[in-house]
Amino acid sequence: MKPTTTSSDWIARSLRSVWHPCTQMQHHEEVPLIAVSHAKGPWLYDHEGRRYLDGISSWWVNLFGHANPRINAALKDQLDKLEHAMLAGFTHEPVIELSEQLAALTGQQLGHAFYASDGASAVEIALKMSFHYWRNAGYAGKQEFVCLQGSYHGETVGALGVTDVALFKDAYGPLLRAARTVSSPDARNAVDGESAQDVALRAAKDVEALFAEQGDKIAAIIVEPLVQCATGMAMHDPLYLQRLRELCDKYHVHLIADEIAVGCGRTGTFFACEQAAIWPDFMCLSKGISGGYLPLSLVLTTDKVYEAFYSEDITRGFLHSHSYTGNALACRAALATLQIFRDDDVLNKNRETATRLMLELAPLLDHKRVTNFRQRGMILAFDAVEPDTQRASTFARRFFTSAVENELLLRPIGRTVYMMPPYVLDEEEIVGLAARARKVFESVIAE
Ligand SMILES: Cc1ncc(COP(=O)(O)O)c(C=O)c1O
Repeated sequence: MKPTTTSSDWIARSLRSVWHPCTQMQHHEEVPLIAVSHAKGPWLYDHEGRRYLDGISSWWVNLFGHANPRINAALKDQLDKLEHAMLAGFTHEPVIELSEQLAALTGQQLGHAFYASDGASAVEIALKMSFHYWRNAGYAGKQEFVCLQGSYHGETVGALGVTDVALFKDAYGPLLRAARTVSSPDARNAVDGESAQDVALRAAKDVEALFAEQGDKIAAIIVEPLVQCATGMAMHDPLYLQRLRELCDKYHVHLIADEIAVGCGRTGTFFACEQAAIWPDFMCLSKGISGGYLPLSLVLTTDKVYEAFYSEDITRGFLHSHSYTGNALACRAALATLQIFRDDDVLNKNRETATRLMLELAPLLDHKRVTNFRQRGMILAFDAVEPDTQRASTFARRFFTSAVENELLLRPIGRTVYMMPPYVLDEEEIVGLAARARKVFESVIAE
């Protein structure tokens, strides 16, 4: 009989050959690597059958559970028809239908879709398109970008230039083209009894001051609407987005909405921008758009932008490309994902799930070691009070390790514990997620 390969065999082989992302590899001397054998619904399983509830949707990508029967069926069907064809000079049904459906979801405001694979590539595209639009329109001096304090837009060199997370950025400082940074509307910045709306208006004033002085040099401002996720689930009031839209119109600056993490229903509406009743000039989508199945990203933009590139002159065109642009399988997974949104009344169900989860986590609201409990749609977060700096610096790792021991995948960001689960949790899983998270939290702060 062939000997079965155990998790520890796979882990040893992985550590020898795979360089894992966003990881100081030496930490794996202490923190366990988990070898996933298979997954179903919100559960990941290792080779010994141990299971982990995927409380963060596998880095915010998975919407309808792992091995979803409807997405699987669509992909199997697509596999026999067309897996991929280059998109320059060719087109195909999945990419056309997806573009049409996304345009319809924006009420035809953003009717042109440009495709790539990862989120960071979509950000690069939006930045380049904005810059190139202004050049084509006769404003070649508009070359600068503005981002928010604590912003995160990906790790490629252009995207990192508009990211403001020191841990990811500082080592590459000399490589990057600096962006201007404005203050974050994070509601946790409230002082002297300010409301979230007051903080939003105060942060918008910072933008106005910059635009008034430098607007003729600025191509675009990029924002993660409603929740700046990677900096630690910093949430802001929709009023901020409304003010940004007004200021961008007034000072002729593009608004880029990076909905890579917050789009696809994550904040309670399909697009986060809908809660502010605005549309950006460019919207970046990725992560959940393929249901968490395949790398797919895209930028949606307006007729006005599209038309500025439409010309007899090849150099006025947007000559950007990636080999897998508009991959047929990935687009088909996205179509299956959008179909589930239509069939299952997902946004309303998510409202119930989030309310239930909040109820189960309620004891944390007035917990002495918890601050800033917050929620927006299917994102719930709180900050652990950990006065000891040494313990604070290891909080996330200790929490992750204890979570895994309790059949749970949660990875705090610093002292921020958050949940961003797939949209398919049943009652038992909602209760289990909250109970496990509370148990792990209590044990980690008591250590
Ligand atoms: C808001 C936002 N933008 C961009 C990215 C980068 O996406 P990717 O990791 O697919 O390059 C992320 C990833 O977490 C993100 O959260």
